[in-house]
Amino acid sequence: LFSHVEQGPPDPILGIAEAYKKSTNPKKLNLGVGAYRTEEGKPLVLEAVRRAEQAVVSNPDHEYLPITGIPEFNALSARLAFGEDSSVIRENCNATVQALSGTGSLRVGAEFLARHYPVRTVLLPSPTWPSHNKIFPLAGVADVRAYRYFKPSSRGLDYEGMLEDLRKAPEGSILLLHACAHNPTGVDPSLDQWRGILEVAKEKKFLPFFDSAYQGFASGDLERDATAIRMFADEGMEMLLAQSYAKNMGLYGERVGALTVVARDAAIAERVESQLKLVIRPMFSNPPRFGAAIVVKVLQDPELYALWRKELKGMADRINGMRTLLFQELQRAGAPGKWSHIVEQIGMFSFTGLSKPQVEYLTAKWHVYMTLDGRISMAGLNQASCRYLAEGIADAIRA
Ligand code: LMR
Repeated sequence: LFSHVEQGPPDPILGIAEAYKKSTNPKKLNLGVGAYRTEEGKPLVLEAVRRAEQAVVSNPDHEYLPITGIPEFNALSARLAFGEDSSVIRENCNATVQALSGTGSLRVGAEFLARHYPVRTVLLPSPTWPSHNKIFPLAGVADVRAYRYFKPSSRGLDYEGMLEDLRKAPEGSILLLHACAHNPTGVDPSLDQWRGILEVAKEKKFLPFFDSAYQGFASGDLERDATAIRMFADEGMEMLLAQSYAKNMGLYGERVGALTVVARDAAIAERVESQLKLVIRPMFSNPPRFGAAIVVKVLQDPELYALWRKELKGMADRINGMRTLLFQELQRAGAPGKWSHIVEQIGMFSFTGLSKPQVEYLTAKWHVYMTLDGRISMAGLNQASCRYLAEGIADAIRA
Protein backbone atom coordinates (compact mmCIF):
# COMPACT_ATOMS: atom_id res chain seq x y z
CA LEU A 1 0.00 0.00 0.00
CA PHE A 2 2.82 2.36 0.72
CA SER A 3 5.48 1.11 -1.68
CA HIS A 4 5.10 4.27 -3.76
CA VAL A 5 6.08 6.47 -0.80
CA GLU A 6 9.32 8.29 -1.47
CA GLN A 7 11.97 9.16 1.06
CA GLY A 8 11.32 12.66 2.36
CA PRO A 9 14.15 15.19 2.56
CA PRO A 10 15.79 15.84 5.93
CA ASP A 11 14.55 18.94 7.76
CA PRO A 12 16.90 21.88 7.01
CA ILE A 13 17.42 22.50 10.74
CA LEU A 14 16.44 19.44 12.77
CA GLY A 15 18.07 17.23 10.10
CA ILE A 16 21.41 18.81 11.04
CA ALA A 17 20.91 17.75 14.66
CA GLU A 18 20.28 14.18 13.44
CA ALA A 19 23.46 14.23 11.34
CA TYR A 20 25.43 15.61 14.32
CA LYS A 21 24.21 12.80 16.55
CA LYS A 22 25.34 10.21 14.02
CA SER A 23 28.88 11.60 13.80
CA THR A 24 31.41 9.75 15.94
CA ASN A 25 34.16 12.34 15.56
CA PRO A 26 35.20 13.66 19.01
CA LYS A 27 35.76 17.16 17.61
CA LYS A 28 32.18 17.50 16.32
CA LEU A 29 30.50 20.82 16.99
CA ASN A 30 26.73 21.35 16.83
CA LEU A 31 25.83 24.87 15.71
CA GLY A 32 22.68 23.86 13.85
CA VAL A 33 19.54 24.04 15.93
CA GLY A 34 18.96 27.16 18.03
CA ALA A 35 19.19 25.80 21.54
CA TYR A 36 21.11 27.45 24.37
CA ARG A 37 24.17 25.72 25.77
CA THR A 38 26.29 26.62 28.77
CA GLU A 39 30.01 27.39 28.54
CA GLU A 40 30.45 23.65 29.24
CA GLY A 41 28.30 22.84 26.21
CA LYS A 42 25.40 21.54 28.31
CA PRO A 43 21.67 22.31 27.99
CA LEU A 44 20.53 24.71 30.72
CA VAL A 45 17.51 24.35 32.98
CA LEU A 46 17.00 27.84 34.38
CA GLU A 47 16.90 28.07 38.18
CA ALA A 48 13.61 30.01 38.06
CA VAL A 49 12.14 27.24 35.91
CA ARG A 50 13.53 24.52 38.19
CA ARG A 51 11.88 26.11 41.24
CA ALA A 52 8.59 26.67 39.42
CA GLU A 53 8.69 23.07 38.22
CA GLN A 54 9.08 21.80 41.79
CA ALA A 55 6.00 23.75 42.83
CA VAL A 56 4.04 22.32 39.89
CA VAL A 57 5.17 18.76 40.58
CA SER A 58 4.31 19.00 44.28
CA ASN A 59 0.71 19.75 43.38
CA PRO A 60 -0.05 17.28 40.60
CA ASP A 61 -2.94 17.91 38.28
CA HIS A 62 -3.42 15.93 35.10
CA GLU A 63 -6.92 17.02 34.18
CA TYR A 64 -7.69 18.27 30.69
CA LEU A 65 -7.18 21.95 30.14
CA PRO A 66 -9.84 24.04 28.43
CA ILE A 67 -9.48 24.14 24.62
CA THR A 68 -7.75 27.52 24.91
CA GLY A 69 -5.34 26.42 27.67
CA ILE A 70 -4.64 27.86 31.12
CA PRO A 71 -6.49 31.21 31.39
CA GLU A 72 -3.77 32.81 33.57
CA PHE A 73 -1.11 31.67 31.12
CA ASN A 74 -2.91 33.44 28.30
CA ALA A 75 -3.42 36.65 30.28
CA LEU A 76 0.19 36.70 31.49
CA SER A 77 1.56 35.97 28.01
CA ALA A 78 -0.40 38.81 26.46
CA ARG A 79 0.78 41.19 29.19
CA LEU A 80 4.37 40.11 28.72
CA ALA A 81 4.23 40.96 25.04
CA PHE A 82 2.08 44.10 24.98
CA GLY A 83 2.95 45.53 28.43
CA GLU A 84 0.72 46.16 31.45
CA ASP A 85 -0.48 49.56 30.24
CA SER A 86 -1.25 48.58 26.69
CA SER A 87 -4.70 49.56 25.46
CA VAL A 88 -4.92 46.07 23.92
CA ILE A 89 -4.87 44.63 27.45
CA ARG A 90 -6.91 47.38 29.14
CA GLU A 91 -9.69 47.14 26.57
CA ASN A 92 -9.58 43.34 26.22
CA CYS A 93 -9.00 43.53 22.48
CA ASN A 94 -6.92 40.35 22.52
CA ALA A 95 -8.02 36.79 21.98
CA THR A 96 -5.08 34.81 23.41
CA VAL A 97 -4.92 31.02 23.35
CA GLN A 98 -2.28 28.56 24.46
CA ALA A 99 -0.71 26.59 21.62
CA LEU A 100 2.24 24.31 20.87
CA SER A 101 5.13 26.74 21.07
CA GLY A 102 5.89 29.13 18.20
CA THR A 103 5.21 26.67 15.40
CA GLY A 104 1.84 25.58 16.78
CA SER A 105 0.81 29.18 17.44
CA LEU A 106 1.71 30.16 13.88
CA ARG A 107 -0.21 27.21 12.53
CA VAL A 108 -3.37 27.94 14.55
CA GLY A 109 -3.13 31.60 13.51
CA ALA A 110 -2.65 30.72 9.84
CA GLU A 111 -5.62 28.31 9.89
CA PHE A 112 -7.78 30.95 11.51
CA LEU A 113 -6.75 33.45 8.81
CA ALA A 114 -7.42 30.95 6.02
CA ARG A 115 -10.98 30.66 7.31
CA HIS A 116 -11.75 34.22 8.29
CA TYR A 117 -9.41 36.64 6.53
CA PRO A 118 -10.17 37.44 2.90
CA VAL A 119 -6.58 37.98 1.66
CA ARG A 120 -4.63 34.75 1.12
CA THR A 121 -1.26 36.39 0.55
CA VAL A 122 1.47 36.20 3.17
CA LEU A 123 4.67 38.22 2.86
CA LEU A 124 7.76 36.56 4.31
CA PRO A 125 11.20 38.09 4.75
CA SER A 126 13.93 36.67 2.53
CA PRO A 127 15.47 34.71 4.06
CA THR A 128 13.29 33.48 6.91
CA TRP A 129 12.98 30.52 9.25
CA PRO A 130 12.28 27.66 6.79
CA SER A 131 9.10 26.46 8.54
CA HIS A 132 7.35 29.77 7.76
CA ASN A 133 7.32 28.76 4.08
CA LYS A 134 5.50 25.54 4.94
CA ILE A 135 3.11 26.54 7.70
CA PHE A 136 1.09 29.12 5.77
CA PRO A 137 0.31 27.17 2.59
CA LEU A 138 -0.40 23.99 4.56
CA ALA A 139 -2.89 25.98 6.60
CA GLY A 140 -4.56 27.35 3.49
CA VAL A 141 -2.80 30.70 3.03
CA ALA A 142 -1.59 29.66 -0.39
CA ASP A 143 0.02 32.77 -1.88
CA VAL A 144 3.44 33.02 -0.23
CA ARG A 145 5.64 35.91 -1.37
CA ALA A 146 9.06 36.99 -0.28
CA TYR A 147 10.16 40.53 0.50
CA ARG A 148 13.80 41.56 0.47
CA TYR A 149 15.24 41.62 3.98
CA PHE A 150 18.92 40.73 4.08
CA LYS A 151 21.49 42.51 1.97
CA PRO A 152 24.48 40.21 1.35
CA SER A 153 26.79 43.10 0.38
CA SER A 154 26.39 44.90 3.72
CA ARG A 155 25.35 41.83 5.74
CA GLY A 156 22.68 44.11 7.16
CA LEU A 157 19.06 45.01 6.49
CA ASP A 158 18.00 45.77 2.93
CA TYR A 159 15.67 48.48 4.19
CA GLU A 160 15.08 50.20 0.84
CA GLY A 161 14.52 46.88 -0.92
CA MET A 162 12.16 45.78 1.83
CA LEU A 163 9.98 48.89 1.61
CA GLU A 164 9.96 48.73 -2.18
CA ASP A 165 8.74 45.11 -2.12
CA LEU A 166 6.15 45.84 0.55
CA ARG A 167 4.78 48.78 -1.42
CA LYS A 168 4.32 46.52 -4.45
CA ALA A 169 2.56 43.76 -2.50
CA PRO A 170 -1.22 43.29 -2.60
CA GLU A 171 -3.17 45.50 -0.23
CA GLY A 172 -4.25 43.72 2.95
CA SER A 173 -1.53 41.05 2.75
CA ILE A 174 -0.51 39.24 5.90
CA LEU A 175 2.92 40.62 6.81
CA LEU A 176 5.10 38.21 8.72
CA LEU A 177 7.60 40.03 10.93
CA HIS A 178 10.16 38.65 13.35
CA ALA A 179 9.56 40.63 16.54
CA CYS A 180 13.27 40.64 17.38
CA ALA A 181 16.44 38.64 16.71
CA HIS A 182 15.55 37.78 13.13
CA ASN A 183 16.11 34.11 12.39
CA PRO A 184 18.37 33.23 10.53
CA THR A 185 20.14 36.56 9.91
CA GLY A 186 20.40 38.14 13.38
CA VAL A 187 19.63 41.46 11.66
CA ASP A 188 16.86 43.63 13.12
CA PRO A 189 15.48 46.96 11.88
CA SER A 190 16.45 50.04 13.91
CA LEU A 191 13.75 51.95 15.76
CA ASP A 192 13.41 54.41 12.88
CA GLN A 193 13.26 51.61 10.37
CA TRP A 194 10.49 49.92 12.39
CA ARG A 195 8.58 53.22 12.22
CA GLY A 196 9.01 53.22 8.44
CA ILE A 197 7.79 49.64 8.19
CA LEU A 198 4.78 50.52 10.34
CA GLU A 199 3.92 53.44 8.05
CA VAL A 200 3.96 51.19 4.97
CA ALA A 201 1.95 48.53 6.82
CA LYS A 202 -0.70 51.16 7.58
CA GLU A 203 -0.69 52.58 4.05
CA LYS A 204 -1.10 49.13 2.53
CA LYS A 205 -3.60 47.95 5.18
CA PHE A 206 -1.40 44.94 5.91
CA LEU A 207 -2.22 42.54 8.71
CA PRO A 208 1.00 42.16 10.73
CA PHE A 209 1.73 38.70 12.10
CA PHE A 210 4.59 38.88 14.61
CA ASP A 211 6.65 35.81 15.34
CA SER A 212 8.14 36.38 18.78
CA ALA A 213 10.49 33.55 19.68
CA TYR A 214 13.18 35.50 21.53
CA GLN A 215 11.59 38.04 23.88
CA GLY A 216 14.17 38.80 26.57
CA PHE A 217 16.63 36.37 25.04
CA ALA A 218 17.80 38.69 22.29
CA SER A 219 18.91 41.74 24.28
CA GLY A 220 18.48 40.41 27.80
CA ASP A 221 15.66 42.95 28.27
CA LEU A 222 12.04 41.82 27.97
CA GLU A 223 10.72 45.33 27.23
CA ARG A 224 13.29 46.17 24.61
CA ASP A 225 12.66 42.95 22.69
CA ALA A 226 8.93 43.78 22.58
CA THR A 227 9.49 47.26 21.12
CA ALA A 228 8.21 46.49 17.62
CA ILE A 229 5.12 44.64 18.83
CA ARG A 230 4.25 47.49 21.19
CA MET A 231 4.91 50.13 18.56
CA PHE A 232 2.43 48.49 16.19
CA ALA A 233 -0.11 47.84 18.96
CA ASP A 234 0.08 51.44 20.18
CA GLU A 235 -0.85 52.57 16.67
CA GLY A 236 -4.08 50.60 17.03
CA MET A 237 -3.07 47.98 14.47
CA GLU A 238 -5.04 44.76 14.42
CA MET A 239 -2.50 41.96 14.31
CA LEU A 240 -1.53 38.43 15.20
CA LEU A 241 1.26 37.36 17.51
CA ALA A 242 2.87 33.96 18.01
CA GLN A 243 4.88 33.66 21.24
CA SER A 244 7.26 30.89 22.17
CA TYR A 245 8.76 30.07 25.57
CA ALA A 246 11.26 27.62 24.06
CA LYS A 247 14.28 29.91 24.15
CA ASN A 248 13.52 32.49 26.82
CA MET A 249 12.53 29.90 29.45
CA GLY A 250 14.51 27.04 27.97
CA LEU A 251 11.27 25.03 27.68
CA TYR A 252 12.10 23.72 24.20
CA GLY A 253 10.60 20.25 24.46
CA GLU A 254 7.58 21.30 26.53
CA ARG A 255 6.05 23.09 23.52
CA VAL A 256 4.71 26.14 25.33
CA GLY A 257 3.46 29.09 23.36
CA ALA A 258 0.58 31.46 22.81
CA LEU A 259 -1.28 32.89 19.87
CA THR A 260 -2.91 36.30 20.17
CA VAL A 261 -5.28 37.89 17.72
CA VAL A 262 -5.69 41.61 18.39
CA ALA A 263 -9.13 42.78 17.26
CA ARG A 264 -10.73 46.22 17.18
CA ASP A 265 -12.76 45.67 20.35
CA ALA A 266 -13.54 43.18 23.10
CA ALA A 267 -16.73 41.87 21.52
CA ILE A 268 -14.91 40.97 18.29
CA ALA A 269 -12.06 39.42 20.26
CA GLU A 270 -14.56 37.18 22.04
CA ARG A 271 -15.99 35.96 18.75
CA VAL A 272 -12.46 35.43 17.39
CA GLU A 273 -11.66 33.30 20.43
CA SER A 274 -14.71 31.13 19.78
CA GLN A 275 -13.38 30.53 16.25
CA LEU A 276 -9.86 29.77 17.48
CA LYS A 277 -11.41 27.02 19.59
CA LEU A 278 -12.91 25.54 16.43
CA VAL A 279 -9.43 25.46 14.90
CA ILE A 280 -7.78 23.92 17.98
CA ARG A 281 -10.30 21.26 18.99
CA PRO A 282 -9.92 19.05 15.89
CA MET A 283 -6.16 19.80 15.68
CA PHE A 284 -4.86 18.87 19.15
CA SER A 285 -8.00 19.12 21.28
CA ASN A 286 -6.44 21.11 24.11
CA PRO A 287 -2.86 22.00 24.94
CA PRO A 288 -0.49 20.25 27.38
CA ARG A 289 -0.46 21.70 30.88
CA PHE A 290 2.96 21.04 32.41
CA GLY A 291 5.12 23.62 30.66
CA ALA A 292 2.41 26.27 30.72
CA ALA A 293 1.92 25.73 34.47
CA ILE A 294 5.65 26.40 34.92
CA VAL A 295 5.41 29.62 32.90
CA VAL A 296 2.48 30.80 35.02
CA LYS A 297 4.49 30.30 38.21
CA VAL A 298 7.53 32.14 36.85
CA LEU A 299 5.50 35.08 35.57
CA GLN A 300 3.25 35.31 38.64
CA ASP A 301 5.74 34.97 41.46
CA PRO A 302 7.71 38.23 41.88
CA GLU A 303 10.78 36.43 43.17
CA LEU A 304 10.86 33.87 40.36
CA TYR A 305 10.14 36.58 37.83
CA ALA A 306 13.09 38.66 39.03
CA LEU A 307 15.32 35.58 39.00
CA TRP A 308 14.18 34.72 35.46
CA ARG A 309 15.03 38.22 34.24
CA LYS A 310 18.48 37.89 35.70
CA GLU A 311 19.02 34.51 34.10
CA LEU A 312 17.77 35.80 30.74
CA LYS A 313 20.32 38.55 30.89
CA GLY A 314 22.97 35.97 31.73
CA MET A 315 22.15 33.93 28.61
CA ALA A 316 22.11 37.01 26.37
CA ASP A 317 25.42 38.21 27.83
CA ARG A 318 27.11 34.86 27.28
CA ILE A 319 25.99 34.85 23.64
CA ASN A 320 27.27 38.39 23.15
CA GLY A 321 30.56 37.35 24.73
CA MET A 322 30.82 34.57 22.15
CA ARG A 323 30.22 37.11 19.38
CA THR A 324 33.17 39.20 20.52
CA LEU A 325 35.36 36.17 20.98
CA LEU A 326 34.52 34.64 17.60
CA PHE A 327 35.23 37.97 15.95
CA GLN A 328 38.63 38.15 17.62
CA GLU A 329 39.44 34.54 16.80
CA LEU A 330 38.52 35.03 13.13
CA GLN A 331 40.94 37.91 12.98
CA ARG A 332 43.60 35.93 14.80
CA ALA A 333 43.12 33.05 12.35
CA GLY A 334 43.43 35.50 9.48
CA ALA A 335 40.06 34.52 7.99
CA PRO A 336 39.74 36.50 4.75
CA GLY A 337 36.97 39.10 4.73
CA LYS A 338 35.29 41.52 7.08
CA TRP A 339 33.69 40.02 10.16
CA SER A 340 32.14 42.96 12.01
CA HIS A 341 28.67 41.56 11.27
CA ILE A 342 29.35 38.82 13.81
CA VAL A 343 29.31 41.41 16.62
CA GLU A 344 26.61 43.57 15.07
CA GLN A 345 24.01 40.83 14.61
CA ILE A 346 21.70 40.06 17.51
CA GLY A 347 20.12 37.03 19.16
CA MET A 348 20.81 33.37 18.94
CA PHE A 349 22.23 33.25 15.44
CA SER A 350 24.90 34.66 13.23
CA PHE A 351 24.57 34.64 9.50
CA THR A 352 28.21 34.12 8.68
CA GLY A 353 28.06 34.72 4.94
CA LEU A 354 29.62 31.30 4.25
CA SER A 355 28.42 29.71 1.02
CA LYS A 356 26.85 26.27 0.79
CA PRO A 357 30.08 24.62 -0.49
CA GLN A 358 32.02 26.29 2.33
CA VAL A 359 29.52 24.96 4.89
CA GLU A 360 29.76 21.50 3.35
CA TYR A 361 33.55 21.69 3.57
CA LEU A 362 33.39 22.79 7.21
CA THR A 363 31.12 19.89 8.05
CA ALA A 364 33.12 17.30 6.11
CA LYS A 365 36.59 18.39 7.24
CA TRP A 366 36.03 20.14 10.56
CA HIS A 367 32.87 18.32 11.76
CA VAL A 368 31.06 21.59 12.30
CA TYR A 369 27.33 21.02 11.93
CA MET A 370 25.41 24.11 10.80
CA THR A 371 22.61 24.94 8.38
CA LEU A 372 23.54 25.16 4.71
CA ASP A 373 22.58 28.85 4.52
CA GLY A 374 25.65 29.69 6.63
CA ARG A 375 23.77 30.25 9.91
CA ILE A 376 25.46 29.31 13.17
CA SER A 377 23.90 29.10 16.60
CA MET A 378 26.08 31.38 18.71
CA ALA A 379 24.67 29.71 21.82
CA GLY A 380 26.40 26.48 20.83
CA LEU A 381 29.88 28.05 21.13
CA ASN A 382 32.27 28.32 24.07
CA GLN A 383 35.77 29.70 24.61
CA ALA A 384 37.52 26.65 23.18
CA SER A 385 35.21 26.02 20.25
CA CYS A 386 35.37 29.67 19.08
CA ARG A 387 39.02 29.21 18.20
CA TYR A 388 38.38 25.86 16.54
CA LEU A 389 35.50 27.29 14.49
CA ALA A 390 37.48 30.36 13.45
CA GLU A 391 40.32 28.16 12.20
CA GLY A 392 37.83 25.99 10.33
CA ILE A 393 36.19 29.03 8.73
CA ALA A 394 39.53 30.46 7.67
CA ASP A 395 40.43 27.10 6.11
CA ALA A 396 37.03 26.74 4.37
CA ILE A 397 37.35 30.19 2.78
CA ARG A 398 40.86 29.51 1.53
CA ALA A 399 40.07 25.99 0.30
C1 LMR B 1 15.90 27.12 14.98
O1 LMR B 1 15.66 27.93 14.07
O2 LMR B 1 16.94 26.46 15.05
C2 LMR B 1 14.88 26.92 16.06
O3 LMR B 1 13.86 27.84 15.95
C3 LMR B 1 14.42 25.54 16.19
C4 LMR B 1 13.49 25.10 15.12
O4 LMR B 1 12.41 24.61 15.47
O5 LMR B 1 13.81 25.23 13.94
